[in-house]
Amino acid sequence: MINIALTKGRLEKSTIKLLEASGIDCTELIDKGRKLIIEIDNKYRFVFAKAADVVTYVERGISDVGIVGKDTLMEMNRPVNEIAALPFGECKFALATIAGVNFYSGYGIKTIATKYPEVTKQFFENKNMPVDIIKIEGSVELAPLLDLADGIVDIVETGMTLKENGLVVAEYLADISARLISNPVSLKTKKAEIFDFCAKLTDPVV
Ligand code: PRP
Repeated sequence: MINIALTKGRLEKSTIKLLEASGIDCTELIDKGRKLIIEIDNKYRFVFAKAADVVTYVERGISDVGIVGKDTLMEMNRPVNEIAALPFGECKFALATIAGVNFYSGYGIKTIATKYPEVTKQFFENKNMPVDIIKIEGSVELAPLLDLADGIVDIVETGMTLKENGLVVAEYLADISARLISNPVSLKTKKAEIFDFCAKLTDPVV
């Protein structure tokens, strides 16, 4: 039995689509209702959790593997193995500002609103640029519009949210997609099962 943590919400549909394409019968995953743990074929035990918790379950070895966005992995920076990049959840980390504003002009310390304070801190540390980072839980695009921040660091997928709110990308930070991760111990003790599961999904990157 391999324990697999899946991310609820944004990545859920594409994850199930990929699992189905890999030959796993996903009827129970699709019709799961409010059920959080689903066993298939006495072979796979799936749990559904929020992205950050997927990483925690895998880090602690409760789940052998997990499917989660690279954005969450970059923000949490936990000791899990990233074993494959998956072909969905593609987006970018971007620094965005109100259209027509030059983010880098002026001498004052800039304020950045973000759901990703660690990624933001790293990005500006690499530039040797001190910034004031404000953690926001959602609808980050509001922050510059309401004068809470000079800019935001967020994920951009279609760009529609930025566009419809008069914001533009000032700089791209990184490419994001869904990743298959594993617990380092499980990778040794359940190597064959994990690689079999990984091979079903895509070509491993390491
Ligand atoms: C994400 C992200 C942006 C938006 C980008 O938010 O934080 O707001 O999606 O997508 P787009 O480029 O296709 O417009 P999400 O929908 O996860 O909700 P949230 O703002 O409540 O976190």
